[in-house]
Amino acid sequence: MKPRRFMPSGPLRGTIRVPGDKSISHRSIMLGALAVGETRVTGLLEGEDVLSTAAAMRAMGARVERLGEGEWSVHGVGVGALLQPQDPLDMGNSGTSTRLLMGLVASHPITATFIGDASLSKRPMGRVIGPLSQMGAAFDASEGGRLPLTVRGAQPAVPIAYRLPVASAQVKSAVLLAGLNTPGITTVIEPVPTRDHSERMLRGFGADLSVEVEADGTRVIRLVGEAELKPQTIEVPGDPSSAAFFIVAALLVPGSELTILNVGLNPTRAGLIEVLRQMGGDIAEVNRREVGGEPVADLVVRHSALKGIAIDPAVVPSMVDEFPALFVAAALAEGTTVTTGLEELRVKESDRISVMAAALTGAGARVTETEDGLIIEGTGGEVLRGTAGAIATHLDHRIAMSMAVAGLASRAGVEVDDTRPIATSFPVFEALLDGLAT
Ligand code: S3P
Repeated sequence: MKPRRFMPSGPLRGTIRVPGDKSISHRSIMLGALAVGETRVTGLLEGEDVLSTAAAMRAMGARVERLGEGEWSVHGVGVGALLQPQDPLDMGNSGTSTRLLMGLVASHPITATFIGDASLSKRPMGRVIGPLSQMGAAFDASEGGRLPLTVRGAQPAVPIAYRLPVASAQVKSAVLLAGLNTPGITTVIEPVPTRDHSERMLRGFGADLSVEVEADGTRVIRLVGEAELKPQTIEVPGDPSSAAFFIVAALLVPGSELTILNVGLNPTRAGLIEVLRQMGGDIAEVNRREVGGEPVADLVVRHSALKGIAIDPAVVPSMVDEFPALFVAAALAEGTTVTTGLEELRVKESDRISVMAAALTGAGARVTETEDGLIIEGTGGEVLRGTAGAIATHLDHRIAMSMAVAGLASRAGVEVDDTRPIATSFPVFEALLDGLAT
């Protein structure tokens, strides 16, 4: 455990750059490892979760090398040619690595065992075991469909048409990645759109992938196997989920004016910015451009008086990882913020509904937990009391960073019980914050 008290801060001013997008970083290494030849990646997030993916792809035969800061080279083995890993694949804290790699193994003639930390070992894998079993893979999982688990790949796998029962980009991606080495057309039907980085990048690597949008918005994604992927040069945009903490911090701390460079603004990820603007947040976008096939802009965020709102549950998938940060913003807004439709938050790195309810209450906020969300009575701009002892983060990086932001807008500071998990997604978070906070 590495506790730290995050103290009240003066205005956040200046310019920062957040590290590369975690979702895109994982996918660039996985697809690079499946292409024949060398893929070059710049701006890769060097967080522990992505390093778990890199280690796993190495264990399955790819050459994955770090050339410099954020600069990586991946020599792929080709779709169908992944090697049997000799040891269990240690996924650490990373649900994305686990679920996407289960998809890859499922259609290769290899067997792999997945292990992870205490948080990951509590998370449900049944959601990928279901469709991947239909494709012919065999699973030996711990109770409740959890890690440690062993996947025996199908040879050959059979293509399926799978309608997602939960809005999950990880499940969608697991099925699509399994489809790469499956003869015929693998179809994923997505009633509610989730992040589409897999689709964009699969196309970029030359896969035959089409997306049909039906009248009601349902997306039908078809991938033709067996695919041949061509190596690419990828520039990873900054992670909007990491930018989120600094956006909220700048909105909350009086006198702040912060520029955040190179933030990915894929519409399937940008829900938080829209919601914060509805709450009265002053967030300007400058220099809109495209980086690595993804929309990107620099954001200028100014301190704003926020107002509580009822958040439309339809936006949840586009900000699914940003609710802990949003809850902190709501705790200082004027009036009530009501969130619903957040059941998925209960199966993230921690149960983010109850863990944030406890953490914010401990810091002096007024919070009511419901089955599928939180109701938060904001202070109207007055800083939170802060915590006496440490709040429990349950091995969840986003809880730690959100409560660090709450500390900036508190009287006594907020103590977080363990800052180590921050390194899974945002290793330079504390250094960036310390460089800004005065
Ligand atoms: C991710 C998808 C989301 C998100 C996670 C990353 C991805 O998970 O919470 O941090 O890279 O595909 P779900 O698919 O479980 O919603």
